[in-house]
Amino acid sequence: MARKKRRQAIEQLQITAYAAEGKSIGHLEDGKVVFVAGAIPGDVVSAWPGKEKKTWMDARLVRVNVPSPDRVQPFCPHFGLCGGCKWQMLPYEKQLQYKQQQVGDQLQRISGIELPEIQPIIGSAADRYYRNKLEFTFSATRYRTSAELAEAGDEKLPEEGALGFHAPGLFDKVVPIQTCFLQPDPTNEVLRVLRDYTERNGLTYYNFKTHEGWLRNVVLRVARTGQVLLNLVLAYEDVEAREAILAHLLQEIPQITSLHYTINQKVNDTLYDQDIITVKGPGYITEMLEDFSFKISPKSFFQTNTQQAERMYQEVRTAAGLTGTEVLYDLYCGTGSIGIFCSRQAGKIIGIEAVADAVTDAKANAELNGLSGKCQFYAGDVSKICTPDFFREHGRPDVLITDPPRAGMHEDLINQILAIRAPRVVYVSCNPATQARDLALLDRSYRVTWLQPLDLFPHTHHIENIAVLELKA
Ligand SMILES: C[S@@+](CC[C@H](N)C(=O)[O-])C[C@H]1O[C@@H](n2cnc3c(N)ncnc32)[C@H](O)[C@@H]1O
Repeated sequence: MARKKRRQAIEQLQITAYAAEGKSIGHLEDGKVVFVAGAIPGDVVSAWPGKEKKTWMDARLVRVNVPSPDRVQPFCPHFGLCGGCKWQMLPYEKQLQYKQQQVGDQLQRISGIELPEIQPIIGSAADRYYRNKLEFTFSATRYRTSAELAEAGDEKLPEEGALGFHAPGLFDKVVPIQTCFLQPDPTNEVLRVLRDYTERNGLTYYNFKTHEGWLRNVVLRVARTGQVLLNLVLAYEDVEAREAILAHLLQEIPQITSLHYTINQKVNDTLYDQDIITVKGPGYITEMLEDFSFKISPKSFFQTNTQQAERMYQEVRTAAGLTGTEVLYDLYCGTGSIGIFCSRQAGKIIGIEAVADAVTDAKANAELNGLSGKCQFYAGDVSKICTPDFFREHGRPDVLITDPPRAGMHEDLINQILAIRAPRVVYVSCNPATQARDLALLDRSYRVTWLQPLDLFPHTHHIENIAVLELKA
């Protein structure tokens, strides 16, 4: 029978605990659990009912009536509108505490297997300007706050464009960003230059509903080496306007070392299937982790918090327990960064990655670090490449490092790992829920011996976790 939809706000809901994914919980009088994103333990809130099941419901935060004593003043003026750093109202120590708790809860509840004690979470040394990559959106439709809409009443507001981040949950509306605390300079300067230039020259921003307008995205990568990569994404070719805006960017932002543009005529924003044209520079930037150099092309994945990635890789290398002779597999290897980082302690490295450009980077990175003879990289779907024949040809892994995307590992790959019986597996995950599911499947042959959460994304609810698995006797 269909549940009757609640039509009234939930008032004075006491938030009692953090759940996961940025949501905290309270209870209705009948005991039903209410999940509220944006609320934190200690708050008393009003919330609007959403999806409802027998024992739980989602609710949208309407108002914080009594703020939790834990709340602090967010440092970013865009907080609350921008979908970026949603946890700024929590002191960083509390964020870490809740992330640690989430890893424990999800691993226990979802995996249902025996687990060792979880190590204390390793926090990020920097909690501002920690990202090396950001993507901003040009939209013909600026996000308008409810206060703006209320003030306008029945008056129809004119269309206004914005350069910034999507408003949470809205595919077409963008919150204009003046200052972002996520990436070091010249990012904020690029935003200012683009805003001024496009306004002065009457250039149009992309309309997500009508698919008209010229400017779509600007992607920035800023490395610790001081190198800066900029890719301007346009909806269609206009040679004169394109050459003019790119020349202006180069003149105003001389720090740009690799300048690119992309003509994306598709409806979606992904660039993996697009040609990224290099206008100036080598077509990539170089980043350093310890004394290893990494070439990163526009399409390649690279951990976005460089300093904390280095810390994470050090943990992975220790966890791998290498002695100098091992055959090491680096699955989902991106630009080959983990394998190369562990290379001095291993005998041979086999890396596998789906994005062909990243594999090209990985091969170049092996050469750049004088490791060509030791490393081999293969492009393709890891669950299709890792067959018994492949392992026979390249050697049984002594240690297998796997670092899948949020969806976790494909079951076919898990079955191949179980079949090849690598003595040690180091599983790096950016989603403890899918990691827990995969650990449960691996439990047939593996025992989890070490769990180390790390924070790579301060002020967000995202969390990274390393699990070490040993083959059962
Ligand atoms: C979380 S990233 C890790 C990359 C790398 N280990 C690092 O630390 O930079 C996951 C990587 O898996 C790749 N990937 C996603 N699905 C894949 C698949 N089915 N087969 C191979 N690689 C895949 C992505 O392109 C991405 O580079």
